Amino acid sequence: MLKLFALVLLLSGVALAADHYDGYKIYDINTRNAFEKQLLLRLSGNEEYDFFDLPRSLDAPSRVMVKPGDQEGFEHLLAKYNVDFSVVSENLGVSLRQEREENQNQRLMNLRSAGRSISFTAFHRHAEINAYLDELAAAYPSRVSVQVAGKSYEKRDIKTITITNGDGKTGKNVIFLDAGIHAREWIAHAGALYVIHQLVENYAANANLLKNFDWVILPVVNPDGYEYSHTSTRMWRKTRKPITSACYGTDANRNFDFHWGEVGASSNSCSDTFKGETAFSEPETQLLRDLLLGLSGRGKFYLTLHSYGNYLLYPWGYTAALPSTWRDIDEVAQAGAAAIKSATGTKYSVGSSTNVLYAAAGGSDDYAFGVAKFPVSITMELPAGGTGFNPSTSQIKSFVDETWVGIKAMAQKVTEKY
Ligand code: ARG
Ligand code: ZN
Repeated sequence: MLKLFALVLLLSGVALAADHYDGYKIYDINTRNAFEKQLLLRLSGNEEYDFFDLPRSLDAPSRVMVKPGDQEGFEHLLAKYNVDFSVVSENLGVSLRQEREENQNQRLMNLRSAGRSISFTAFHRHAEINAYLDELAAAYPSRVSVQVAGKSYEKRDIKTITITNGDGKTGKNVIFLDAGIHAREWIAHAGALYVIHQLVENYAANANLLKNFDWVILPVVNPDGYEYSHTSTRMWRKTRKPITSACYGTDANRNFDFHWGEVGASSNSCSDTFKGETAFSEPETQLLRDLLLGLSGRGKFYLTLHSYGNYLLYPWGYTAALPSTWRDIDEVAQAGAAAIKSATGTKYSVGSSTNVLYAAAGGSDDYAFGVAKFPVSITMELPAGGTGFNPSTSQIKSFVDETWVGIKAMAQKVTEKY
């Protein structure tokens, strides 16, 4: 019944109007010195340019999406200062349209098959994800339970899944994992689903990770943004609560009340890094806050999945100083990076957010560590696919497989240490 309903929804969804991205270009900018980096930093203050990343390191390129009307001025400016750049996508609209169709086909195929509501051959919608959690709770009642933690601004159910080994012991330590703080980072949502799949449906192979620890997983922190990135604007990042008539949404990862707004966050509601009108202005961040505080003491490992950039980041994001216990977190993150390196050869950079990426206050990782007292708190930035946020459906399985290798190694380390 649910599947039939989903099928009707899916078919009607095909005709939905979508932001086209026709003529949008994506550039890689290669800065060669501190002056050029500075220029880029100034450009990133212009809300018309969507900087996909802005890494600290001089040799890593910065990727930026520019809409048709702004391209001439943008290229002119780079040429004037002799900054080296290349065009990674001449017309984002064309590839996004193809990918959208491919994803719909893959989702349809899975809906028609007799299995679960989700697969790892498509990026699934929020309703399908929630249905999957409920299917697991029904199929494995002794090990799995699902909670409605609250509702998003647009009144979607935000669900967590609690996974145990079914031994009935309460009060165990907890590993808390979330994904989807940022809407467009679809591979992160898929990564969280794959962790759930492994711990529940491949339990025998992973029982050691559930012996002394329970897992609580929140696969879609920001469902309104996620749905909007499916139905309308693929590159949407923020939540969806209107701030002004023209500008919607808050960057949930700048909205946590820990050194809120001090650095790397915008006061402009149109900005993609808008910190919110107040700390915890969003129902979604309030909900995550309450979950984290509720686990304080038992919560040993907070892991939040994002994309992209191949980073394992830990506190602090608000300052270049390191917490006194940074070595404990570093040891866990290094275990994850090493496991991935030896499994697939993929390299992850490990370090504090401020030191290896950029300073940005109000993140969930700083809050989990600094306020909710999780001794290990890590942001995992999965690898880029497509032009960054859009791996193809055929890449999902290998991406989440690799991610799981890293998560398993980190969780293993945590269960040994705590
Ligand atoms: N790409 C993430 C963001 O910009 C990184 C967050 C790292 N953590 C932090 N507290 N700054 O939100
Ligand atoms: Zn993110």
